[in-house]
Amino acid sequence: MSRLKRSDRPYDIVLFGATSFAGALTAQYLAAHGPDDLRWAIAGRNEDKLRALRERLPKGTDVGVLTADVSDPDSLRALAEHARVVATTVGPYLTYGEELVAACADAGTDYLDLSGEPEFVDLMYVRHDARARETGARLVHACGFDSVPHDLGAYFTVRQLPEGVPLTVDGFVTADAMFSGGTFASALNQFARGRQMIAAARDRGRHEPRLVGRRAAAPTGTPRYAQEVGAWALPLPTIDAQIVRRSAKALERYGPDFRYRHYAAVRRLPVAVGGVAAMGALFAAAQVPPARRWLSGRVRPGDGPSAEKRAKSWFSVRFVGEGGGRRVFTEVAGGDPGYDETAKMFAESALSLAFDDLPETSGQVTPAVAMGERLIERLRRAGITFRVASSR
Ligand SMILES: NC(=O)c1ccc[n+]([C@@H]2O[C@H](COP(=O)([O-])OP(=O)(O)OC[C@H]3O[C@@H](n4cnc5c(N)ncnc54)[C@H](OP(=O)(O)O)[C@@H]3O)[C@@H](O)[C@H]2O)c1
Repeated sequence: MSRLKRSDRPYDIVLFGATSFAGALTAQYLAAHGPDDLRWAIAGRNEDKLRALRERLPKGTDVGVLTADVSDPDSLRALAEHARVVATTVGPYLTYGEELVAACADAGTDYLDLSGEPEFVDLMYVRHDARARETGARLVHACGFDSVPHDLGAYFTVRQLPEGVPLTVDGFVTADAMFSGGTFASALNQFARGRQMIAAARDRGRHEPRLVGRRAAAPTGTPRYAQEVGAWALPLPTIDAQIVRRSAKALERYGPDFRYRHYAAVRRLPVAVGGVAAMGALFAAAQVPPARRWLSGRVRPGDGPSAEKRAKSWFSVRFVGEGGGRRVFTEVAGGDPGYDETAKMFAESALSLAFDDLPETSGQVTPAVAMGERLIERLRRAGITFRVASSR
């Protein structure tokens, strides 16, 4: 499918799963901030819910309504063929996501999701990257808080450092926020699948071309007191470090030998110890099916933090980058990471893929590789901070 044919499609952006907690916020954002001539549609399995959502959008919003169900591959193919960009919030992606990735790869349609699920992303690489390269589709996972601030923050930090020398970047995440039903379900799903996750990563490793003449690593750090940010640093086993490493593999600008480590930053030791214990307990409970089912029932799909709670939520990711005799401190910061800012990052990523003049890429690509500088500009205009705190 040629680029020209793609531009003839009736919609610039189709938002699938628009009725989800994150999807509805993304629809609100697109309605308020999309360009006047944006051709877009909300899509999902329940037409009544979609129409009710459309009623809640600002008066006069011109948006189509499309029905599709993940259990009906033809309906997903039709979505992919009607849009230049499909953005989906239908998760857990490991359960619901693959058919849409396949349809977009096949139709040459750009695809975006909010997945923070490493196993899903690795499986999609092995199964659909090659086809997407043939058709020119860009498959961009993790376009929410997982992993945009970390991926673009590391990219921004690297750009403050000298070229052509070994570089190290450490990211320290601090946030005050709550999660929704979909996020909780996705996290539990992942915790229960440690072995499958490792197997998918190994299989990806067998398919991925080796990096020749350069190195890019994302080792798990060890818990420590990080003097440089004045906080306890706990290694964060999220997808973010993998995404940063993939950006470093793809882009020469990260230098001949790049290393990224990803941490949660906690000021007080008892909070750090409590956080590790709570995560350990959740991980252990997720291994036992009845406990997992009980936990899943605590936060239902469609539930999420209230507007008041979200208004008080915030995040900050501080980066310390070093190389070539320079040391730089940078920060990416904003409001509610899980939802308001995730909706902003997701919608701006979709708009960037649809309208910005971007590097020629295809196949599975990270946010930094697909959109880099253009997405940083968009997010800054939308109120997310990217700043150099100090350098020497
Ligand atoms: N930090 C991040 O990057 C971040 C932040 C937020 C969310 N997320 C991820 O985004 C995803 C959505 O989270 P959420 O809490 O917003 O989800 P949610 O409210 O639980 O909504 C799930 C969505 O999936 C749809 N769905 C379920 N089965 C379907 C099917 N058979 N066909 C079509 N659609 C189907 C639902 O449609 P109905 O409305 O018709 O039931 C709903 O729109 C999760 O995977 C979550 O982990 C990531």
